Amino acid sequence: MADVELRSIVKEFDDGTRIGPINLTVKDGEILTLLGPSGSGKTTTLRMVAGFIEEVEGSLFFDGKDMIDVLPRERNIGMVFQSVALFPNMTVFQNISFGPEMAGWSRDRTVERVEELADLLGIRNLLLRKTSEISGGEAQRVALARALAKEPKLLLLDEPLSALDPQLREKLQMEIRSIQRKLEITTIYVTHSQDEAFAISDKVAILDDGIVSQVGTPEELYDSPTNEFVARFLGSGNIFSGQVVKVSDGHLTVLVNNSRFKIPGEGEINSLVKFSMKPEDIIISDTSVTDWAQANLISITPQVGSYKVTVDFNGLPLNALIYDEQLVKRLRANGESVISFSFKPESIIILR
Ligand SMILES: Nc1ncnc2c1ncn2[C@@H]1O[C@H](COP(=O)(O)OP(=O)(O)O)[C@@H](O)[C@H]1O
Ligand SMILES: [Mg+2]
Repeated sequence: MADVELRSIVKEFDDGTRIGPINLTVKDGEILTLLGPSGSGKTTTLRMVAGFIEEVEGSLFFDGKDMIDVLPRERNIGMVFQSVALFPNMTVFQNISFGPEMAGWSRDRTVERVEELADLLGIRNLLLRKTSEISGGEAQRVALARALAKEPKLLLLDEPLSALDPQLREKLQMEIRSIQRKLEITTIYVTHSQDEAFAISDKVAILDDGIVSQVGTPEELYDSPTNEFVARFLGSGNIFSGQVVKVSDGHLTVLVNNSRFKIPGEGEINSLVKFSMKPEDIIISDTSVTDWAQANLISITPQVGSYKVTVDFNGLPLNALIYDEQLVKRLRANGESVISFSFKPESIIILR
C-alpha cells in the first residue's frame, strides 16, 4: 500500500500532443478516479504511472520515493485493462497464480493467495475452468484477481467494466469498491462514465484535454464545479452567461437573454460572467411573477421521486427538478406554456 504523488508529470508525443502537467495525490488506501471524455489523457496518465511510457518529464513518488526511472515490473503495480488478455489455454487458477509463480513464491503461499482472492471475488468454483469457458463478467473478476495476486502496492484499472452490460457493470462497481476497501489498496481507476466514477471513488480528477480541470470528492464536484467544463461534463448545472450591468454591495446584476439576475459575487461592470444553477435549485411558477424570468415549457418527464421540467429560456434549454405534484398538474393543465422561474441566490455557482 502506498501514497502516490504525480508532480508536474508531462508527456509530449512526437506529433506535439501534450498530456500534462499533471499534479495529483492519492493517499494510502484511497481510490482516485480519472474521469474525462475520450482522448482527454486518462490512459496515458495511467500508463505513465505504470512506467509504460518513455521520456516522461516530472516526478512520480510512491511513499516519497521517486519512481520515474524505475522499470515497470519493479514498480509493484497490478493492472487491469478494458480488454482482458487472460491466457486462453490456461485455467483460471493458472492465470491467477502466474505472477506469484514467476516471482518464485512457494507453492503453499501461492495456493493460499489464489484461494483467498477466489473467495473474495466469488470465483472459487471456476478455478479449474479454462478461461475460454467463462463469461465476460467472470473474466473481469479473474483479471482483477490476477492483478492482485502478487500483493501489489498500487492497483491501476483502465475502464475495466466498459465492455459489460449495465447491470453487471453496476454490480462489479460495488464489488471492486468493497474489495478495494477490504484490501486497503491504493487504486487509480479510469472511466469516462460519471456514474461509475461517483459510485466508486474517494476522489475524482476530471481531465480536460490533458490537464486536470478539477479534483475533489464526488459531492464537492457536483455541488461546486469551479469551471464551465466540469459543470457541463457533470451535467450538474444549467449554465448562464451574461454581462454585468450593475455592481452593488457584494452583488452583481447580470443581463442574460434580456432578463436581469441578481447574484452574489464581485466583479467589474460590463465584464462577462458565467454561472451555473443545479436543476434542484431552480424554482418554477405556473403564473407570471414580477421580477422573475420567463421561459417556455418544453417537457415534463417523471423520474423516481421528482419530475424533470425542461424549459426554453430564449434558446437556452434549462432543466429543473420539481417535487410538487400539484404544480406539475397545474403546469400540465395549463394550455399556456409560459412559466416564470427564479432561484435562491445562495445556490448560484460562479464559474471561471
Ligand atoms: N502513442 C501515442 N502517440 C501519439 N499520441 C498519442 C499516443 N497515445 C495517446 N496519444 C494521444 O493522447 C491523447 C490522449 O489519449 P488517451 O490517453 O488514450 O486518452 P483517453 O484514455 O482519455 O481516451 C489523444 O489525443 C491521443 O491521440
Ligand atoms: Mg483510454
